[in-house]
Amino acid sequence: MSPRTEHRVRNDPAQYDDLTDQWWRPHGKFAALHWLARARAGLIPDPPRPGAPLLDVACGAGLLQPHLTGRLAGWVHTGVDLSLLSLRQARTHGVTAVAADAGRLPFADHSFECVVAGEVLEHLPDLPSAVAEICRVLAPGGTLVMDTLNNTWLCRLALVRIAEHLPGGPPAGVHDPALLVSPNVLNELLAQHGVRMHRPTGLRPAAGQYLAWLARRREDVTMLPTRSVSMLYQATATKDAS
Ligand SMILES: C[S@@+](CC[C@H](N)C(=O)[O-])C[C@H]1O[C@@H](n2cnc3c(N)ncnc32)[C@H](O)[C@@H]1O
Repeated sequence: MSPRTEHRVRNDPAQYDDLTDQWWRPHGKFAALHWLARARAGLIPDPPRPGAPLLDVACGAGLLQPHLTGRLAGWVHTGVDLSLLSLRQARTHGVTAVAADAGRLPFADHSFECVVAGEVLEHLPDLPSAVAEICRVLAPGGTLVMDTLNNTWLCRLALVRIAEHLPGGPPAGVHDPALLVSPNVLNELLAQHGVRMHRPTGLRPAAGQYLAWLARRREDVTMLPTRSVSMLYQATATKDAS
C-alpha cells in the first residue's frame, strides 16, 4: 500500500517517492502518464544515428523507455529526476538515470540531440532556469519534445481540482495550480535561447477507451489530438542550427 501523501504541500516532489509503487501499474495513480508517454514518443524524431543521446528531463520511473523501440530504437535514453526511488525503477527499465534538478543539469552544452520534458514544466517553481538549462544542453538542430498543462481557469478547474478525484486523473496534491504553463510563456522563454516552438496540439483521452479502462477491460488509453490547447497540450521545438 502507498504511504499517505496528504501531509505534503502541493507539488512537493517527495510525493513521487511516497507513491513509488504506483509508477508501473496500468490502473495505478500514474496510469495516465503511460498514455501520455506513448503520445510523447509520437513526437520524437528518428535518431540521427544509432546511439544518439536523448535526455528525458524528470524521467520519473522511465515510462518513456518502452516506447523507444522500432524507429526510435537508436536513441540512448538518459533521464534526470529528483526522486531517488523513481530513478531506481527507471534504471531497472534500461534508463541511464541521474539524480539532478531540471534547473541544474549536470551535462555539457549541446550534449543531446533530443530533449524530452514530459509532464514536468508545470511542476517547476523556477521555470526560466529549467528552460535555460534544457536549451543549453540541446544540440544545435536538435528537437525538444514537451507536454504540460496550460495556465487557464478551465485547466486549473478540470485537470487540477476535479480530475484529482477521478480515476486516471493526477494524484491529489501533485499539481500547484499557480505553476501551470501557457504556450505563449513557453514560446517566449524558449525563444530567448534560440529554440523555436512549433504550434502546440491539445490532447484528450479517447472516451470509449477510457470507459473500457475504467471497467478494467483495457490496460491503456490512446490520447487523441484536439484543436483546443486550453488544458493538456504537447509541442516540439527546434534549436537553431548555428
Ligand atoms: C508527473 S511526473 C512525470 C514523470 C515522467 N516525465 C513521466 O511522464 O512519466 C513529474 C516528475 O518530475 C519530477 N520533478 C519535479 N520537480 C523536478 C525538478 N525540479 N527537477 C527534476 N525532476 C523534477 C518528479 O520527481 C516526477 O518524477
